[in-house]
Amino acid sequence: MVGRTIPALAVIAVGALFLAACQPTVDVSRASTTVRTGLALAPPDTPVLPLGRDGRPIRPSAIEGSKVFLKAQCIVCHGPEGLGNGPAAANLKSPGKDLLTDFLLLIGIRAKGEQLPSHPANFHNVVQMRLNSPFSMYETVTRGRPHTAMPSFGPRPAYGAATFGVRLTDEERWHVIFFEWAFSTTPAEVARGKQIYETRAMDVSGRMLTCAACHGTDGDGRGHEGLALSAKLWNWARGQGPGIFTDVNLMAQRKPSELFQAVMDGHGEMPSYRGKLTDDEVWAVVNYAWTFVYQYPAK
Ligand code: HEC
Ligand code: HEC
Repeated sequence: MVGRTIPALAVIAVGALFLAACQPTVDVSRASTTVRTGLALAPPDTPVLPLGRDGRPIRPSAIEGSKVFLKAQCIVCHGPEGLGNGPAAANLKSPGKDLLTDFLLLIGIRAKGEQLPSHPANFHNVVQMRLNSPFSMYETVTRGRPHTAMPSFGPRPAYGAATFGVRLTDEERWHVIFFEWAFSTTPAEVARGKQIYETRAMDVSGRMLTCAACHGTDGDGRGHEGLALSAKLWNWARGQGPGIFTDVNLMAQRKPSELFQAVMDGHGEMPSYRGKLTDDEVWAVVNYAWTFVYQYPAK
């Protein structure tokens, strides 16, 4: 036992010395001057969405998106209603491109990798959609999804992703994914969400407040309570960040499930709504909150 432990320890010790020797050396002598001259300010937020003519991020529109959906033939796979049942859906296969097939191609052998069946997404599947962010969908449309039949519609396909011979502009890709986003709700649900948002008052430290009292009727955090809150919350004062539903770059990266959780559990200055709103009511108000950043058909 001991006879085996000692060589093992020796190997570990030599290995550790070797690793230590490989560490990059850090020159601490200059660190103090950096601190004295001050740290650079954080770079300004880089917008995720392209800027429109007015210098502000474009407003994605489900109506514009429906035109792109037709033009780019998303319908062929995803179906006219986005149910994942287009005419090509049943026979789709992954491109079958991988490192081995590419390596063989180098020596002149044209091999096809394993082509697995691939099923188009159904945008009415709320279990899936509540875990998506608009940004993750945008990335899928832009780069394609490797090893599935979902092709790239942007300038640079991901490795192993299919292409389809159709290129969409940045703006078109944002519009089309918000068209798909809209399938996960209904005009009736959005209307119900609006009603809860504007009229359902809750006791917050002895005062009856609606969502709109804090978040604003327009979702910009400029309700009468919201204005008071912006004295405490620097991001609300800037009109950006969590709880500012008009901050499209933030909302594009959120998932409905995260917003649902925030409303249920409470979040910072916001009370918990667990037991005060039903699950369905919270989903309705969450889906309504998204309509502040994109043009929903019924509005
Ligand atoms: C050739 C068939 C095909 C076409 C055309 C196609 N898709 Fe897809 N799409 C798929 C498949 C297959 C998947 C599922 C990929 C997977 O298994 O993860 C998918 C998945 C997606 C997803 C991811 C959804 C999720 O929940 O993760 C988005 C977003 C999407 N497609 C948008 C589009 C848009 C927008 C267009 C048109 C511009 C389009 N697709 C055209 C086949 C297609
Ligand atoms: C007392 C004021 C107040 C009320 C009432 C209120 N909120 Fe909030 N809410 C906030 C504040 C402030 C934040 C940001 C919290 C933080 O960043 O710490 C927030 C955050 C949120 C978030 C999280 C956003 C994110 O991106 O993580 C959601 C979703 C939300 N509120 C929805 C609602 C809904 C829906 C209602 C009504 C049912 C509501 N809020 C009522 C003040 C309020």
